[in-house]
Parts: sequence; C-alpha cells; structure tokens
Amino acid sequence: MHTTAHAPRTERIRSLPKAEVHAHLEGCFQPAVLAQWATEAGVPMPRPREHLLAFEGLADFLHFLDWACGLASTRERLAELSYGFSQRLAESGAGYADVIVNPTHWKAWHGRLPEMIDAIDAGFASAEQDGLPPVGLCVSLLRTQSSDAAAELVDALIALGHPRVVALSIDGNEAAAGRTSPRFAEAFRRAGAAGLRRTVHAGESSGPEGVRDAIELLGADRIDHGVRAIEDPALVALLAERRIPLGICPTSNLKLGVYASIDDHPIDRLRRAGVVVSINTDDPVLLGASLEGEYALCSDAFGWSDEDLRTLARHSIDASFANADVKAKLLERLSRW
Ligand code: ADE
Ligand code: ZN
Repeated sequence: MHTTAHAPRTERIRSLPKAEVHAHLEGCFQPAVLAQWATEAGVPMPRPREHLLAFEGLADFLHFLDWACGLASTRERLAELSYGFSQRLAESGAGYADVIVNPTHWKAWHGRLPEMIDAIDAGFASAEQDGLPPVGLCVSLLRTQSSDAAAELVDALIALGHPRVVALSIDGNEAAAGRTSPRFAEAFRRAGAAGLRRTVHAGESSGPEGVRDAIELLGADRIDHGVRAIEDPALVALLAERRIPLGICPTSNLKLGVYASIDDHPIDRLRRAGVVVSINTDDPVLLGASLEGEYALCSDAFGWSDEDLRTLARHSIDASFANADVKAKLLERLSRW
C-alpha cells in the first residue's frame, strides 16, 4: 500500500490535544452539496462547477459566501452543517472550537436570528451528545454594517442570552470598508459589559493600524488573523506584552492573497517575538484546509519541534472561549502528549 512520508507525523499532529479558535460556519459547505442545492432551487452557479472554489481574493470570497449561505434555507441544512463541523473537528484531534457565524450572509434567515441560532445549536448539541467536541458560537458583525445594525445585533444577543453564544465577532473586508472600528466601539463595549467575549478580524485586509484599533477601540480578547501586525514592531511588542492571542490561518492567507508563499508568512516571526499565536483553518472546506494540515504545513516550513507544537496547542486552548472545565481537561491531556 502506498503511504506518504508525512503520514506518521500527520497522525502525531492529529493526536495533539488542541482547540480551533478561528473557523467560520460559512466556510464549511461541500461544493458538491452546494451544486445540488443550487440545481434543486433553480439558482445559477456563480461560475462553472470546475472553478467553483477558485477565489480571486477576499472580496470575491465574501460574495461567494452570500451565494452559498443563501442556499442553506432550512433548519435541517444548518443543523447538518454544524454537525459536520464537529465531525471534522474530532477527526483533526481538536477538543473544542469557537465557530464564527455572520448572519448577514444568510439571506433566508434575515429577521429570524433566534431561529437561526437555535438551528445551529441543534446541530452542535446533537454532535456533543454523540461524543463529538463542544463548540462555542461567535456571532459576527460585517465590517460594512452601520452602527445601528451593530447595536441591533448586540441587543438581540443580550435579549436572547443563548448559552451557545460565547462572543461577539466582526469580520468582512476592511480594505473595502475603510477604518470602521470607531463605528463599532459602542456595540463591542456593550457586548463586553454583558459578559460576551470579543474577537475581531484585523490585520488581514487591514494593516497594523487595524490591529491597534481592534485592541484600543473594540477591546478585543483575541484577534482573528492579525498577521500584518508584523509590519509594526511596537505593535508586535504590545501584543506580546498584553498576551493578546492571534488566531492565524496560513492556508487562508495564501489562498486569499495576503502572502505569496508559506516562506513569506509571518507566523514564525510573530511566535519568536513572543506573541501568543494559534493555528486555525478559517474556512476549512471552501479553502481546502484541515487543522492537522495547517500544523503540518507550518511545522515543515519552519522546522518546529514537538515542544513548539505543544506550545502552539497550549496557546490554542488558552486563547479559546471554552469554559474552565473543558480547558482544564484539554490542558491535562496535552500535558500527557
Ligand atoms: N469571513 C469568512 N472568512 C473571512 C476572512 N478570511 N476574512 C474576513 N471575513 C471572513
Ligand atoms: Zn476569518
């Protein structure tokens, strides 16, 4: 039987107890399923089937998400998508994930946030009953929304008080939206005061100034991406000193054009500068990234040792919004890896 030289090491990475802290439910559609749903609904494909996942960059990708999520119109589809996420999480050897969902992409659910969260929760709850890892939900604003829309989402999340929802998030295209953190500061302040954690996409489609705004204006507990902080040494020092974790997604950065090759990627430089970094998939199915594959990619490129991998896994657990019990159990398993 043919086996690749990497197979044993991939197995070892799978066995590493870890968490995923930056993944979007929107990025979990199987292309064949999308094609089938589109045919059934009589909805045209955005481009030919064989190029369906050939994204031109972040703007094109976000546009695709609107199309894909628009097809997920039933409770069953949302619950199955969530259940499938938990299955892949378990296959990658992760013991917990924070998952982002951005209601703006899901046209069929507009005006029905409680029903939408309930459908997602049903998938994750049934996964957990089947012994799959627990998941927390980070409900996301889009960078192009208004401050009124942000206030409305935060009001709705606070009123709902759903135990699945652990954080307020913000994602989308900062290059297109411009500097928007001042507009969202009040929404993030209120979310924090109501006990929600705060996670902020910055330093992907924005430069280091976006990361600084995420810290100073949005009170970010964690930065999603944050990689372009590397362009400002004082900011790198601040991230390290304040131990603000970055949820880094190497394959996403390559496929969406932030860096040309893994050798150009700053994850290892950030890590060496003392920044708390974790490894994640962003939009795993649509961008073709698995958690164990991301660890392997970086480990090969930067020559990481087992001790380095253990530290990265520990950072992923520490950075997660899992409850104390889940964290303690994962850290205990990690100490025995
Ligand atoms: N939504 C889904 N993936 C994203 C990314 N990489 N950047 C910003 N928003 C996103
Ligand atoms: Zn993301």
